[in-house]
Amino acid sequence: MDHSGWLKRYRLKPHLPRHVAIIMDGNGRWAKKRHLPRIAGHRAGALSIREIVRLSGQLGLTALTLYAFSTENWKRPRKEVSLLMQLLKQYLRSEVAELLQNNVRLGTIGNTGDLPREIQEELKNAIQITSRCTGLNLILALSYSGRADLTEAVRKIAKKVKSGKIKLASVREETIAKELSTKNLPEVDLLIRTSGEMRISNFLLWELAYSEFHVTKTLWPDFRTPHFIAAIRDFQKRQRRFGGVESVVGSVISWAR
Ligand code: IPE
Ligand code: IPE
Ligand code: MG
Repeated sequence: MDHSGWLKRYRLKPHLPRHVAIIMDGNGRWAKKRHLPRIAGHRAGALSIREIVRLSGQLGLTALTLYAFSTENWKRPRKEVSLLMQLLKQYLRSEVAELLQNNVRLGTIGNTGDLPREIQEELKNAIQITSRCTGLNLILALSYSGRADLTEAVRKIAKKVKSGKIKLASVREETIAKELSTKNLPEVDLLIRTSGEMRISNFLLWELAYSEFHVTKTLWPDFRTPHFIAAIRDFQKRQRRFGGVESVVGSVISWAR
């Protein structure tokens, strides 16, 4: 079935967000409710990732960015961090064939150099294997910090100014956008956060300037196809004005700006 077939099946309008970003939160609470260890929640969360990635490809989204591990998450108990890393390794190993089959191209943002060496190898491998895929761009935010990404961009620009490569007066918004790790991605049209928390938690600080927000109480391991469709339907009802006066109902004009 092609993209429009899937849109019809889910009764969605044709104007989709090009880029959806998700703060996948609530794995721990999901496990706690069931008197299970936190890692059981992360494991169940991996199944949600599989389902949402497949669905995003079917619908024809351009990019899906998933907040999988923040720089602040290193502060968690060592045991949880190491189990999370193990889970990530398993995910990469078991999913690569499925990604390839679904024409999904994998990428990352964040300081992946902080990750255990074996995970870096696994990532490199999966990125290389899927590099020719032309469907959905799946971006995993790993050891990611929005502030760190902006700080790094400032450092790079300052270096260029200092060496005379660019003039101070020519530093514009695009100059900054081009130094961020998201430089090759379309604007984030829709941000989803699960488990009800109303905060950004150092995710895409610059990139969320005009994104539509959809916060749901549903915990990430419970977030499946119907919830994602509901989030997109919610997006399609929004009046996006980008600071102007004419209302653009749910439409994606980000690349026309
Ligand atoms: C999100 O779930 C997954 C990661 C941050 C890795 P949490 O582990 O934050 O779950 P809660 O917020 O404790 O429920
Ligand atoms: C945000 O969730 C980070 C990820 C989903 C990877 P957290 O659970 O770490 O965020 P806070 O602590 O609620 O802000
Ligand atoms: Mg959390």
